Amino acid sequence: MKTLPPHSIIGILGGGQLGRMTALAAAKLGYRCHIFCPDAGEPAVEVAAFHTCASFDDEAVLEGFATAVDVVTLEWENVPLRTLEIVARHTAVHPGIEVLRVAQDREQEKTFARSIGIGTTDFAIVHSAEELAAALPKFKLPAILKSTRMGYDGKGQVKITHATDAAQAWAQMGAPVGILEAYIDFLCEVSVIVAVRADGASAAYPAVENIHRSHILAETHAPANLPPHAAEEAEHAARLLATKLGVVGLLAVEFFVLRSPNEKGQHVLMNEVAPRPHNSGHWTMDACVVDQFEQLVRAVCGLPLGDPTPHSRAVMYNLIGDEADSWAEYLAQPQTALHLYGKKETRAGRKMGHVNVLKGEW
Ligand SMILES: Nc1ncnc2c1ncn2[C@@H]1O[C@H](COP(=O)(O)OP(=O)(O)O)[C@@H](O)[C@H]1O
Ligand SMILES: [Mg+2]
Repeated sequence: MKTLPPHSIIGILGGGQLGRMTALAAAKLGYRCHIFCPDAGEPAVEVAAFHTCASFDDEAVLEGFATAVDVVTLEWENVPLRTLEIVARHTAVHPGIEVLRVAQDREQEKTFARSIGIGTTDFAIVHSAEELAAALPKFKLPAILKSTRMGYDGKGQVKITHATDAAQAWAQMGAPVGILEAYIDFLCEVSVIVAVRADGASAAYPAVENIHRSHILAETHAPANLPPHAAEEAEHAARLLATKLGVVGLLAVEFFVLRSPNEKGQHVLMNEVAPRPHNSGHWTMDACVVDQFEQLVRAVCGLPLGDPTPHSRAVMYNLIGDEADSWAEYLAQPQTALHLYGKKETRAGRKMGHVNVLKGEW
């Protein structure tokens, strides 16, 4: 395994807040980041040493970027695979193309998880309103129809009840391929973030509970208040997924915790994976000595991984839309750390920042 020493240049595909916080963590260890993103106004650009603003399909510009950096990682899992292929001709890309191929597609994610013994919701892949109508009788309603690709924050998702018309749901979902999923009446949602180095060394943060509002993550509670076997099962499944997928870098895995074990004795079902820093890991910035962003830098540079044991319990609150306007109030709260992403325009549903409130010793 190659170790990249401080002062090396880390290329990051994507310029959002996850790239911004990765660049800040990298700078703390003396590395420089080079952001590749389409728009110079994106949050990561203003905190990075270098940036290149071009389309992800601009081959000549990508070649120039790839030869100017020592390693490449990403903060957005929907970077086109072709982009990664071009970059990989010149430099190591972590995570690699095969990981992205699975993580970009809900069918592949679930099929992969099942192939290694991890439970998922029952699902059917549908390509038309007719196929959807034909699949529905096999599902207990409600069910959820999602686009297989490019979904985030609940976009491209339609809940299907007895009152729903298949043609209307298909049109509303608005993608060429859909995945119809059994609706899970879960106890709660949890996630686990694992860091893996090229030599296989790994470190997992403990399972945390995520509360969504309007399909957008609103709060993360660390630790999750779970029966110990459910937390252990989630942590084990996340490590297994990261290892079997061959991730170098970070893998965040979202799970539904069942109210009672299913027929296979499983207490958790995998919902989706993200091979990058994750919103549900932002609490680590103030509750762990080494946070998820620094952990990513350590993993892709071949450095010793940080101890993922938290020192504090914490609750992370996302600041969505105009919630960030109350920044002065958050600054005045005890045991509270404010993080803003520098986005110039506030929009409803847009993640503008977050606050971490520490809740005492872990
Ligand atoms: N099969 C399901 N059963 C119950 N709730 C679901 C199901 N799928 C998604 N949800 C809810 O919608 C949220 C967003 O769905 P998710 O599949 O994570 O898509 P994304 O985060 O990419 O928008 C989940 O965190 C969960 O709260
Ligand atoms: Mg999700």
